[in-house]
Amino acid sequence: MIFQALRSCNHSGKTFFLETCRDCRSIANPIALSVVLIALHAIGSRCLAVNCLRSNLGKTLQAAWCLRCHCYVKIDGKSYRTVWTESAEGHVNLKIIDQRRLPFALIIEELGSVEDVAVAIMDMHVRGAGCIGATAAYGVWLAAKECEGSRKKLDSLCTRLLCTRPTASNLAWAVKRQLKAIEGKPAEHWAELTLHEAERIADEDSRWCFSIGRHGLPLIEEIAAAKPEGGAVNILTHCNAGWLAFTDWGSATAPIYAAHHAGIDVHVWVDETRPRNQGARLTSWELENEGIPHTVIVDNVGGHLMQNGKVDMVITGADRVTRRGDVCNKIGTYLKALAASDNDVPFYVAFPSSTLDWDIDHGVGNIPIEQRANEEVSRIEGVLDSGEIVDISLLEEGIQTANYAFDVSPAHLITGLITERGICRASEDDIKAMLGGENEP
Ligand code: MRU
Repeated sequence: MIFQALRSCNHSGKTFFLETCRDCRSIANPIALSVVLIALHAIGSRCLAVNCLRSNLGKTLQAAWCLRCHCYVKIDGKSYRTVWTESAEGHVNLKIIDQRRLPFALIIEELGSVEDVAVAIMDMHVRGAGCIGATAAYGVWLAAKECEGSRKKLDSLCTRLLCTRPTASNLAWAVKRQLKAIEGKPAEHWAELTLHEAERIADEDSRWCFSIGRHGLPLIEEIAAAKPEGGAVNILTHCNAGWLAFTDWGSATAPIYAAHHAGIDVHVWVDETRPRNQGARLTSWELENEGIPHTVIVDNVGGHLMQNGKVDMVITGADRVTRRGDVCNKIGTYLKALAASDNDVPFYVAFPSSTLDWDIDHGVGNIPIEQRANEEVSRIEGVLDSGEIVDISLLEEGIQTANYAFDVSPAHLITGLITERGICRASEDDIKAMLGGENEP
């Protein structure tokens, strides 16, 4: 039997969700599956096959998923990306998940102008390196529509997008790529070209994250194989580098999802990640939806867990990686890297090549570190037992705060970098050998 279930899912258009081997894991003639996928694509369906397929030879194959939209069913049987377009009455509309409301409410927001996109990025309706990049790419499409053929206006709208958040490389990378896509092209084609390129960037982000999962899986398999029977692989992660931080799959979570789909027993220590609580609010919500065992911890717990043998590996994401392998990521990552190094816990950083900044060698002092509003430190949002969402003060009025959003973990603290091309050491030579000195596929 190839499919355990073949059912329609709530995705737009003709979509089938092919659920394979969730329980039996015994199937899998991958050739037969491929034939079915190709046939469904040929008739215009968006087909989706999740979970690991085990071939008759017992070899583990990575999950197949929709080759066209790369979507993955996540919330109540429905596929979501973090940012996407929808066509209605001859118009193409840009939609996002407003991440500020999660996990208490799932709100879809429409972004109709460059200013909407700029605000959504700056105020973190969307956040996470890949997601910011893809959203900015769609922002350039809206800019191409708004600029009325004026290159000067287009450039100033792009500058507006570029100024929204300074640290993650993906934003500037996506805007630059969009401007390259229209280089030398007549203004009447800018909107069409940038929409096409934005869709490509969003698709690639998803596909690259999927590949990160494929490359990261053997690391988890190896740890699992060395565990006594019944022992879960304990992975610590910081912030949210899950599908919400990209268009799909995530960077740090992709190997975890791949391992879970392959039937490996994983347990995730989720740093709450003050002040915005991306771990407590977003990563745990993602993992919960996926049925992956996890425990939320306050940010100071990781060192203790590592000292006591309760962490097998750390996987974090990255907002910017320098060409010699220094990693800029959510504030607090550096302390985890230090603790991991002191306790011989492997510390991996997962990111797509769009996060690499070839212009910077040493990260400390050279990567712009975003400083955000004091209120993110002095206040906190939560939900009352009544269900009412409230925002309360943690400090007395007038107390000084500082809110650095990112820090840099130097390359020597990092065991390996997991990218869509494979795994390498955090060194200039190894990164160059793997990524070829370019961010382009
Ligand atoms: O400030 P945010 O929420 O945009 O932070 C970025 C992040 O999500 C993290 O630093 C993450 O680990 C890397 S981005 C995938």
